[in-house]
Amino acid sequence: MSADKTAPFIQIRNLKKRFGNQQVLSGINLDIRKGETLLIIGPSGEGKTVLIKHVIGLLRPDEGSVVVDGVEVNKLKERDLAPVRKRVSMLFQGGALFDSLTVEQNTAFPLIEAGVRDSAEITLRVREALEAVDLYEHKHKLPVNLSGGMRKRAGIARAIVGRTQCILYDEPNSGLDPIVADVIDRMILRMQKRYGVTSLVVTHDMGSVFKISDRVAFLKRGVIHFLGTPAELKASTDPEVRDFIEGRSGITS
Ligand SMILES: Nc1ncnc2c1ncn2[C@@H]1O[C@H](COP(=O)(O)OP(=O)(O)OP(=O)(O)O)[C@@H](O)[C@H]1O
Ligand SMILES: [Mg+2]
Repeated sequence: MSADKTAPFIQIRNLKKRFGNQQVLSGINLDIRKGETLLIIGPSGEGKTVLIKHVIGLLRPDEGSVVVDGVEVNKLKERDLAPVRKRVSMLFQGGALFDSLTVEQNTAFPLIEAGVRDSAEITLRVREALEAVDLYEHKHKLPVNLSGGMRKRAGIARAIVGRTQCILYDEPNSGLDPIVADVIDRMILRMQKRYGVTSLVVTHDMGSVFKISDRVAFLKRGVIHFLGTPAELKASTDPEVRDFIEGRSGITS
């Protein structure tokens, strides 16, 4: 492991965010190291999506800071966020595809936005991304004519096509059958191994936690309640951690 690998790519310090009188994030401290895959787990509605939206400046903190590759994102004006969004892409929880664009056009969109003009290169990279999520043969379809799982995979193709340094995945496996969910897990790992991508993955899928994560953060009551390796998570005696992981594993027993 190189020394560089342990340098944080994302540094979150004392991040606080409230909506009206609801305090959602109460002081998040978290470092995501360069090249690691860090999973965020936690009960529904606790602020996981809110947290990762701060990384690309879609939400602004009330207090605290978010530093991405040395740049303090919370201090940037909207127009200065483009370079950050070129380096960090996000898979939104609902896919967030453009309804009037085909799967192929949706996937090409980040490349065009990033200024890639070579149509042969665009065609090649779109094909690679769509093949990775097994959607190439559906490239001419509009989102409305896709199944929920296919929409999710199209969103993933769009998140990986730009070969960004860092990808934020908001529940990449939800709504997918177990085989496709496994394919997505392998793809997240491949992005890490092949391109050294840093991944921040919000998930409810405990299977993914043990398959793909280097470290796991458990978000509860607006703070990171637990942070450690999957083995440390498994061995944790913290009652809230145990409730959460056993609640999930209880489904299959
Ligand atoms: N723009 C907003 N305005 C007001 N409240 C918001 C806004 N965005 C999020 N919230 C609230 O913040 C809380 C946390 O939402 P968030 O979407 O981060 O939850 P989550 O942990 O991602 O849940 P899930 O696992 O169900 O996706 C919720 O109560 C939500 O209603
Ligand atoms: Mg969410």
